[in-house]
Amino acid sequence: MVSPEDGTARPAVRSAEAARSGLPAGFLWGVSTSSYQIEGATKADGRGVSVWDTFSSEPGRIANGDTGEPACDHYHRYVEDIALMRDIGVGAYRFSVAWPRVLPAGRGAANEPGLAFYDRLVDGLLAAGIEPWLCLYHWDLPQALQDAGGWPNRDIVGWFADYADLIARRLGDRVKRFATFNEPSVFTLFGYSFGWHPPATHDLSAHYAAIHHVNLAHGAAVDVLRKSVPGASIGAIHNMQPSRPVGASAEDRAAAAVLDDFWNNAFPEPQILGSYPVSLQHGIAPHLRDGDLERICRTVDWMGINHYSPIYARADAGSPLGFAWADAPADVPRSPIGWQLDPAAFRDTLRSAHQRYRLPIYVTENGAGAEEAPDASGQVIDPERIDYLLRYTDAMKEAVALGADVRGYFVWSLLDNFEWGAGYANRFGLVFVDYATQRRIPKASARWYANLIRAETAGKSA
Ligand code: FCB
Repeated sequence: MVSPEDGTARPAVRSAEAARSGLPAGFLWGVSTSSYQIEGATKADGRGVSVWDTFSSEPGRIANGDTGEPACDHYHRYVEDIALMRDIGVGAYRFSVAWPRVLPAGRGAANEPGLAFYDRLVDGLLAAGIEPWLCLYHWDLPQALQDAGGWPNRDIVGWFADYADLIARRLGDRVKRFATFNEPSVFTLFGYSFGWHPPATHDLSAHYAAIHHVNLAHGAAVDVLRKSVPGASIGAIHNMQPSRPVGASAEDRAAAAVLDDFWNNAFPEPQILGSYPVSLQHGIAPHLRDGDLERICRTVDWMGINHYSPIYARADAGSPLGFAWADAPADVPRSPIGWQLDPAAFRDTLRSAHQRYRLPIYVTENGAGAEEAPDASGQVIDPERIDYLLRYTDAMKEAVALGADVRGYFVWSLLDNFEWGAGYANRFGLVFVDYATQRRIPKASARWYANLIRAETAGKSA
């Protein structure tokens, strides 16, 4: 891994093979998942309750009344899932730790069986030659901490640092890649202002406080990981996509600019460059104390970018935010679940993130959702997903050819899983999961990705 200081430099040495494929030597191909979306076993072995257990059990929150049970029962089937990854040939696996599984009340006494699960998972990955990429927070906050005020309570910075320390001490002898947060703008915007995720409030003041405390928690966790894990390579994972106005009016353009700040800028700007976007500063000010920006802006080694499709805003004078979430124009090309297809936007996002932040970039999520079932022969043939992955990896290669320092790509997701508000209906996996039997069926896209990895790492074009 490069040191933080040389983050602006492209790797100096590129093998002849890598030069042919257009990607740097050592380019990493992986898959991503998250704890609440795949683990299931929500009551097993002393796991505490998470905000997603609470939220998904409330009527009307999730499509079909789905919850995180059974998900993929990965807690019990991780050996089979590691074997699937090995068959695909991935070099890295990005997963998240369920905070309430290791600290049932969020703080205080640790839950040994929960920690032991992550020991087994990490050991199994290493034995299979797959590098573990551990994300500390993929949205499943312990309910006990939500009850104690959640992200708007500044005390959570210390709780998160203690949790990071527990994980660092337990797994840091074997895990070196750490992400602090996954998509902080999504769980803060959707959770505190839009009411679509827990805690399902419409409270802009709490939303600003949550943004600031997540940023402080990121900085505190970076410090803890640096101290406790020699050789740690640390980043945060940001969702980044163009924020576009739904109409041509000045009001809609202003709305898209504000959404851009909440969505794309509220976290990387203070974390990497040391200041908040101007449009957010008045809202953050009541929560800002002397020294906070230094506490947030700690040296990181890379940035993770999750990207799916552009997002849209329209002006909404009735909203405290001044904007409303909008749908893409009717005539744009779409994926099977209606998300806009625009690989050029991905290329441009990678280029602009490179130019602005000057850190090595890992694409930590990209993929396509669909509603799928096995065909009569029991296979799952998914040409739309293959087409999406082909076009988006090509767009990534274009960005690299234009100078973006992208060093890895993780497909979302290894397995079909619990897709938040959409429940189990939206499938993003390379591997189909029959939730009733827990049978796994690698889709055509899993074979396609295996071939791509083989071709890329052998230096031939895919
Ligand atoms: C991202 C989330 C991930 C998954 C994909 C489809 O926003 O990080 O958990 O739901 O979208």
